[in-house]
Amino acid sequence: MGFLEWATSPWGQSVPIHIAWFLIWVSVIAGLVFLIVHAIWLRYFAKPREFAGAASPQVSAGIPKHVPRHSLVARLFHWIMAASMLTLLFTAFLPKVGVQFPWVTYHWIAGAVLTVSVVFHIIHASFWLDFWSIWPDKIDREDAWRRVRRFAGRSAPPPRKFAKYPLENKLFHGVIILCGLSVILTGVFMMFRVRTIFFPRDPYLFGDMTWGLMYVLHGLAGVGLIALVMMHVYFGLRPEKLAITKSMIFGWMDRDFYLEEHDPERWVVETPPPSSSLPSISNRVEGRGLTDAG
Ligand code: HEM
Ligand code: HEM
Repeated sequence: MGFLEWATSPWGQSVPIHIAWFLIWVSVIAGLVFLIVHAIWLRYFAKPREFAGAASPQVSAGIPKHVPRHSLVARLFHWIMAASMLTLLFTAFLPKVGVQFPWVTYHWIAGAVLTVSVVFHIIHASFWLDFWSIWPDKIDREDAWRRVRRFAGRSAPPPRKFAKYPLENKLFHGVIILCGLSVILTGVFMMFRVRTIFFPRDPYLFGDMTWGLMYVLHGLAGVGLIALVMMHVYFGLRPEKLAITKSMIFGWMDRDFYLEEHDPERWVVETPPPSSSLPSISNRVEGRGLTDAG
């Protein structure tokens, strides 16, 4: 049972044409196994979480009731990207598992939406949001090591509270970048193989081997996204994460949730000045780095 499907080119060369579609089921089952094991672990075996330190009463008192987390623009991006990603997954894989429909047009249109939204997001995150908030930092690495030691029953201080994003979210974002950019870069070239409104069709742009490898990379990153999206949606729907999911809809999270999980020194929140409801830089709770609220 090979992981790729092969064909013979007009010149007698054996070339890969795409991944073997049973990999769709490998990804679906891997996603399901993760969800089931994680849910059982949390329900029956996990100990209550412990964090080192707590914000001083003075700092806690300065945190607004609604802590801004995702700006309107960031939320719009997330939901447009999510809709296009789900459309891409369904249009790509339903026909492969027996649900036939003319999928290619819907697929490249959703691909174009994803491409434009991701280009926009890169610019927005680089210049308007706090770019470094989604990348692991030194404290994340130290805390990951503390968590591993404690998990193994060894002595280690409890990890600190999170900055804006826990390490898991940062790692998820990193893997999404890898898979997302792979499907986007290969997908843009694959548009030359079909009729779109963007450029004339040119199936001879690359040789058979290059096309084949491009389809393989597109397919591998695509099936990887099935399990990734399943896990992500599962976390979004878990009861203890609903406060975060709410923030992706309304933009803010409750003060209590913020203080329970986040360190005001690592994720600095702007506090409203006493006389007005508008946030101001001079009223920031002191700490390291600026927040983006987006
Ligand atoms: C979640 C993201 C994506 C997944 C899961 C996905 C998956 C797939 C799969 C499985 C195929 C069939 C390939 C084959 O028959 O060997 C395909 C074809 C195609 N994809 Fe995607 N894709 C994604 C994103 C994109 C993006 C972002 C674009 C465009 C920018 C795109 C453009 C295309 C095109 C044009 C084809 C048709 C190629 C042809 O029929 O010759 N895809 N995609
Ligand atoms: C449809 C169901 C979905 C739900 C309920 C959902 C929920 C969320 C929530 C609540 C966050 C914010 C996490 C935080 O503030 O810490 C988030 C972030 C994010 N989402 Fe989604 N999402 C969905 C679909 C998707 C899809 C299809 C993708 C594409 C792969 C995606 C990619 C991301 C990324 C890259 C982030 C930023 C990293 C992170 O915070 O984990 N989401 N999502």
